[in-house]
Amino acid sequence: MTDKLSQDELKRAVARAAVQHITPCLGTGAALGVGTGSTADLFIDELAAHRDAIAAAVASSERSAKRLRTHGIRVVDLNEVESIPVYVDGADEIDPTFAMIKGGGGALTREKIVAAVATTFVCIADASKKVDVLGRFPLPVEVIPMARNFLWRELAKLGGEPRLREGFRTDNGNEILDVHGLQISDPRTLEAYLNQIPGVVTVGLFAARGADVLLLGTPDGVQELRRPGC
Ligand code: A5P
Repeated sequence: MTDKLSQDELKRAVARAAVQHITPCLGTGAALGVGTGSTADLFIDELAAHRDAIAAAVASSERSAKRLRTHGIRVVDLNEVESIPVYVDGADEIDPTFAMIKGGGGALTREKIVAAVATTFVCIADASKKVDVLGRFPLPVEVIPMARNFLWRELAKLGGEPRLREGFRTDNGNEILDVHGLQISDPRTLEAYLNQIPGVVTVGLFAARGADVLLLGTPDGVQELRRPGC
């Protein structure tokens, strides 16, 4: 219980720190990219105090869109904007190159699209998310339902154990296979390989487009880290 509480506090601290990063966007008319998950939820709650200065938000899920609207923040379709200066989102795991596993909340496809448009990806995470090698967290893969069994067999060839996320449909009407037991030492190559298998909608590896900035919540405070070479 104590651990759980402290993890929530770390999430809240990075959510607050992320507001500093979006400050230059406030009052400029720029659209803000907003991710999905428990950390992103806290970020959305912190945004409420700035609602009047936020021209619009592009959300990576119906869940986040609803929460933003509840706080009186205008949500627009991605097709209505040409650019997104900053996208703020959580991660399930992040490695030293700032490649991530995402999709624990099932919003990986829209997250990847919004991240692709954004100039800067700010990852907000508590310290438990930082790992040396990705894969302890099961890798989510969004799949077209008719390809589920074919993709289960293809994913099993990686050496992990794919499991259907029971009773779950994404915002796009698809299913998710979570692949357990992988050790992903070359996330870029694996992402490219999985992307080209027919029936894969999105793989929850964010390596080709990883984070630019990591706000990491630690017991000693929030660390602001830049992607190596960035
Ligand atoms: C949503 O699909 C995910 O990518 C989340 O961003 C990620 O799972 C992090 O979620 P938490 O902040 O809830 O850990």
